[in-house]
Amino acid sequence: MEAKKRETFSSGLAVFLATLGSAIGLGNIWRFPYITGMNGGGAFLLIYFLCIILVGIPIMISEFYIGRKTRTNAVGAFGKLGRGEFGFIGLMGVLSSLLIMFFYSSVAGWVYSYVFKSLTGTFQGVTSQTSAKIFESAITHPWQPLFWQAVVLLVVALVLILGVKKGIEKATKTLMPVLFILIIMIDIRALTLSGAPKGIDFLINVDFSKVTGATILTALGLAFFKLSLGMGAMITYGSYFTRENNLPATAAQVALSDTLVSLLAGLAIFPVVFTFNMEPSAGPGLLFITIPLVFSKLPFGNFLLALFFLLASIAATTAMLSLVEVPVAYLSEEKGFSRKKAVVVTVIIIMLFGSLATLSLGGNQAISQLKIFGKGFFDFFDYLSSNILLPLGGLFTAIFIGYFINKEDFIKELSNHGLIGNERLGVFLYRILRYITPALVLIILLNSLGLIKI
Ligand code: TRP
Repeated sequence: MEAKKRETFSSGLAVFLATLGSAIGLGNIWRFPYITGMNGGGAFLLIYFLCIILVGIPIMISEFYIGRKTRTNAVGAFGKLGRGEFGFIGLMGVLSSLLIMFFYSSVAGWVYSYVFKSLTGTFQGVTSQTSAKIFESAITHPWQPLFWQAVVLLVVALVLILGVKKGIEKATKTLMPVLFILIIMIDIRALTLSGAPKGIDFLINVDFSKVTGATILTALGLAFFKLSLGMGAMITYGSYFTRENNLPATAAQVALSDTLVSLLAGLAIFPVVFTFNMEPSAGPGLLFITIPLVFSKLPFGNFLLALFFLLASIAATTAMLSLVEVPVAYLSEEKGFSRKKAVVVTVIIIMLFGSLATLSLGGNQAISQLKIFGKGFFDFFDYLSSNILLPLGGLFTAIFIGYFINKEDFIKELSNHGLIGNERLGVFLYRILRYITPALVLIILLNSLGLIKI
């Protein structure tokens, strides 16, 4: 059989929306506002922006460079650059992608189930106690969360089997505008509530007294997870970019838009939290316990609630496309699987281990009691991927670019071989990647491993 021509996204807009679809996820909807609130609001935001600029954007550009230059998956790319020994970075990425999916698909399942629950009136007349109970029984039910996790994986698999253009591109092109419209609608409703001024103040109030060393580390870690960095997702998407794409511009636009959506999510959530005297730092509870309670008391509550969780489902789904695409591209290009077989095999692995994560939250007695390094499956998968493998992947990527890639070649690719004037920007980025980014990442990594304390 003749080798099929490798797919690419069809336009600059498609590139932007697919990459943004990867960045925007569950992270924006509850994690960003909640962490921002816990860490001094506006002061934390300033630090987060710095992390995005000094670590996030440079690593994103590095991943785009590796992907588009080689036009191959996250493992094979290093070989094509003549540095096959760095293929382990890509293999680590494949592992991280699976580990993240084990728990991310579980949370996405709760979100999907909440769209359904909202529409069927489960939250009619809900109180703070019943809302917490509904959440508790939703996540500890012996089979319902598994069912929803399977639905999530089925949706992701169907989109991915369609391929890059007809699957990822079409889904993100249709869904990202919907997501944007939904969040604006919910913002308008939230901003007309009596608690709106307090909510806004909570989000933007600059209070440096709450900033500590740990705050800076939290901001750096959030930047990684938010922008989908450190596991080859952006190498893989970069390999589908067009020749004409301005890589640094795309990275900056995605980082900016992702941050904007996080802020819009904060503007949707905090006014309602303060209107109903709730706890702003409730974490996962903020999304699943507080929001139903709040919306149930509003006119059109059930409808708004369903919209809110629909929005979260869209965000989670387009983020998962990029997570699963990493092993899929690897299996089909390095191991000779057909695309369909690669998707099916990957999704089955995720369902098997992912059900351990899901059942470890109480759905199954025996599984809930199993511990790895003192953590249940769900927390272990989360900790190992987010706190160790992603920063490690990012660190190696920055070192790879800063010390093992020819500077001129890096600059040439960033300026599309002289077609766009990114030469000076390229020199500047190369320096940041050589000296600043690895140092910063090394510090958070050593700290999160408990090897140094700042
Ligand atoms: N960025 C997504 C979020 O905020 C999650 C995500 C998608 C991700 N792809 C990734 C995180 C790759 C790390 C690496 O929810």
